[in-house]
Amino acid sequence: MPTYIVLLGPPGAGKGTQAAVISEEMGLAHISSGDIFRENLKAQTELGKMAQEYMNRGELVPDDVTIAMIRERLSRPDCVAGALLDGFPRTPAQAKALDEMLATLGGKVNLVPLISVPAEVLVERLGGRWTCRAQGHVYHAKYNPPKQAGVCDIDGSELYQREDDQPATVERRIRVYSEQTAPLIEYYRDLDLLCEVDGTQPIEKVTEALLQAVRSIAGK
Ligand code: AP5
Repeated sequence: MPTYIVLLGPPGAGKGTQAAVISEEMGLAHISSGDIFRENLKAQTELGKMAQEYMNRGELVPDDVTIAMIRERLSRPDCVAGALLDGFPRTPAQAKALDEMLATLGGKVNLVPLISVPAEVLVERLGGRWTCRAQGHVYHAKYNPPKQAGVCDIDGSELYQREDDQPATVERRIRVYSEQTAPLIEYYRDLDLLCEVDGTQPIEKVTEALLQAVRSIAGK
């Protein structure tokens, strides 16, 4: 039976950083809704151009568009063993749609790690984040610096600061998270799937805690 993990947490909590390691370790496809939107924007698709308007305002892309995009992504062959979802679902409607999608794939959500980080830390993290232009690898000027400033350690491409990491947009994103995504914490707690991890620890410690949680459900 495939394994599906939903990584929950506010903007800048470290979902992308952790998802890259955990998905590789567990042999799961890493599905980041934000990355898919950014790839579409880079390729100037209609989806990318539409999503950009919402992303630049720090708002959520409409549910119907996002759900259809994830449904298509989950149907691809690399998801046969399951997937680690990073940034999806983000609303109760998306969570419900995910349950339905996974049921048709013969699976269900197996675990929901919540990376908890207070708002003031998030602002500092996003203000210092540098992202790789080619593949979205993530660095931080202070907490996870690249070996050479402005250059990705992994693929040598240029590092840039995301448009939506401007302070005013970060504030809006955090508000949107509290209003529209935080209700999912109770949704998954009620289903006994939630596992809270202290995201203020160093990156490696957060990875350790997440791996322990994820390994405990593997095969269940
Ligand atoms: P998305 O790209 O998903 O952004 P997000 O959820 O806001 O998350 P981030 O990517 O900003 O942060 P992260 O938690 O991945 O943190 P990271 O690992 O980079 O979404 C962008 C936009 O797309 C949304 O605003 C929306 O418009 C749209 N969208 C996406 N999904 C959608 C959906 N389902 N529905 C509708 N719209 C959707 O880490 C942050 C920084 O901190 C990095 O610099 C990192 O190096 C550093 N760091 C990480 N961990 C630590 C640590 N433990 N200690 C110190 N520093 C750390």
